[in-house]
Amino acid sequence: MTLSLDFASDVLNWFDHYGRHDLPWQHNPTPYRVWVSEIMLQQTQVATVIPYYLRFMTSFPTVEALAAASNDDVVQHWAGLGYYARARNLHHAAQQVVEQGGEFPRTLDGLMALKGIGRSTAGAILSLAGQQRGVIMDGNVKRVLARCFALEGEASSASVQQQLWALAEQLTPTARFAAYSQAMMDLGATVCTRSKPLCLYCPLQARCQAYALGTPTAFPEKKKTKDIPTKEAYFVIFDNDQGETLWLKRPPAGIWGSLWCLPEIAVESEQELQQRLMADFGVSGCETAYLPPFRHTFSHYHLLLKPLRIKAIPQQTADSRSQWCTLEQVKSLGLPKPMMTLLAYL
Ligand code: ADE
Ligand code: SF4
Repeated sequence: MTLSLDFASDVLNWFDHYGRHDLPWQHNPTPYRVWVSEIMLQQTQVATVIPYYLRFMTSFPTVEALAAASNDDVVQHWAGLGYYARARNLHHAAQQVVEQGGEFPRTLDGLMALKGIGRSTAGAILSLAGQQRGVIMDGNVKRVLARCFALEGEASSASVQQQLWALAEQLTPTARFAAYSQAMMDLGATVCTRSKPLCLYCPLQARCQAYALGTPTAFPEKKKTKDIPTKEAYFVIFDNDQGETLWLKRPPAGIWGSLWCLPEIAVESEQELQQRLMADFGVSGCETAYLPPFRHTFSHYHLLLKPLRIKAIPQQTADSRSQWCTLEQVKSLGLPKPMMTLLAYL
């Protein structure tokens, strides 16, 4: 117990001097505001999240406002952040909260019953919103603990997960739990970093087992990177004489659900490409220019995007919403990242 207290007070002392105290979600940290920030921060860096977070909070300042918004509107606010299921789940969970009377659950189980909230996010909401001691386990915390206690084995293995949670439970203090939770994330993000930990500046150095072994980056053991397949698709730039390009709104399900994209054509051969251009857009025998392809990586596959400029006006756009846009207009639609990259070709 004393050891746990020493650990927490070393971390908290460090936090008071060197932690981050001015992140947007640290101001007025209501469960709603903390929740939105935690979901955005799950797969995205703090610096990227901040402008998105501020815009989101301006448009949807309360859980009621979020619940009442249209799904398209919510997804547009997420455009560029990736992992769009997060936006869909967030919207769904907001509606769950409102159906339950508009109050956020005050228990771990109540929070975990909401769509998209796992054990760590539930702990973060309880803790960072200052309601009660909650235990968090994001990537930063995992790294700090795995190193400090030199945990052997892959971080995602059941045995290491169990050890990590047990340690976190034991080390999280009953006082200043909000500061402690933030402190552990800050320590992982700024000192105990993935590839070049700054052990000389670390408040845990004296007790850190990985440091003592001289091999901090050996922990946590890296998962063998699984091979993921590469898919390919053409993305067609149709331009008209007014300097506009054709954009389609994607269906709600699947990648980039409800976001605007250039028309996508996934085919095996040049011949098939011509057939699809005819079938989907009613164009044939037109002048085409192949632009440099580039790769985007999703969690389960790489996508090779092959931009294709076509001098022709489509006669139809196979049952999706379409719109001719100037570059200025496109930028206001809210685009997934790779489409932003493609704008450079326009
Ligand atoms: N990553 C996850 N939650 C975070 C937070 N509250 N602050 C900074 N980085 C985080
Ligand atoms: Fe991480 Fe180094 Fe601190 Fe250990 S001493 S927790 S490896 S920064």
